[in-house]
Amino acid sequence: MRKKIVAGNWKMNKTLDEAKALLSEVIHMVQDEVTSDVTVVLCPPSLYLTTARQYIPTEGRIKLGAQNCHEKKEGAYTGEASAHMLASVGAEYVILGHSERREYFGETNATLADKVNIVLENGLTPIFCCGESRELRENGDYVGYVKGQITDSLFHLSAEEFGKVVIAYEPIWAIGTGLTASSGQAQDMHFELRQHIAEKYGDEVAQDTTILYGGSANAANAAELFSRPDVDGGLIGGASLKSRDFTTVVKAIQ
Ligand code: G3P
Repeated sequence: MRKKIVAGNWKMNKTLDEAKALLSEVIHMVQDEVTSDVTVVLCPPSLYLTTARQYIPTEGRIKLGAQNCHEKKEGAYTGEASAHMLASVGAEYVILGHSERREYFGETNATLADKVNIVLENGLTPIFCCGESRELRENGDYVGYVKGQITDSLFHLSAEEFGKVVIAYEPIWAIGTGLTASSGQAQDMHFELRQHIAEKYGDEVAQDTTILYGGSANAANAAELFSRPDVDGGLIGGASLKSRDFTTVVKAIQ
């Protein structure tokens, strides 16, 4: 079902005490100030998931998310966490295929297809990241490339399974750079992806798919980005680490 979602990807930031303070501030601000029908997903480092679960109300718009999981059920994978473990500590969403994981940890579309499967099998919602490099944006078929990420990692799913996936378009050249995609650039790619989904699964599934934008979205530009018809919210990095900025981004959803 298409939802308005703003997810905060904290990445590898905050000590435990800083995380507790941020959780408390964000939860209070969102509860006191947000009136629209938006779901807020907080994705702290996995080390803090159990703590965050204790802060986030079990009912309401605020949900707990993880930043990754392993593609196997269990076993000798030092340092990793499984989807089953994430579910056991109360996570409901899992970010998959972030460009930083693709780049630094060699995650492939095939590996991500396995991760999507095991996240769905454990009743969690994947936030599947896709996006092109600056080089491809400037010199190549960047639309075809991003469509290929969706095809390779998601199009093996049934329509029912696909309907449980959230897409996050994150142009790599906009992540952490302060160089945000224009709302027109975001809308154009989101529209292309929605059309691509419609060709595979039909218009109803495509229209029900939540497609988030990520890449230097912040308090100053979120309202413009979220005003576009195929932008259903955001996956927020840096701005999620500041309670007032993140709450302003959430409130930009109408
Ligand atoms: O996952 C969201 C992240 O990649 C965006 O980071 O700092 O550009 O908002 P940032």
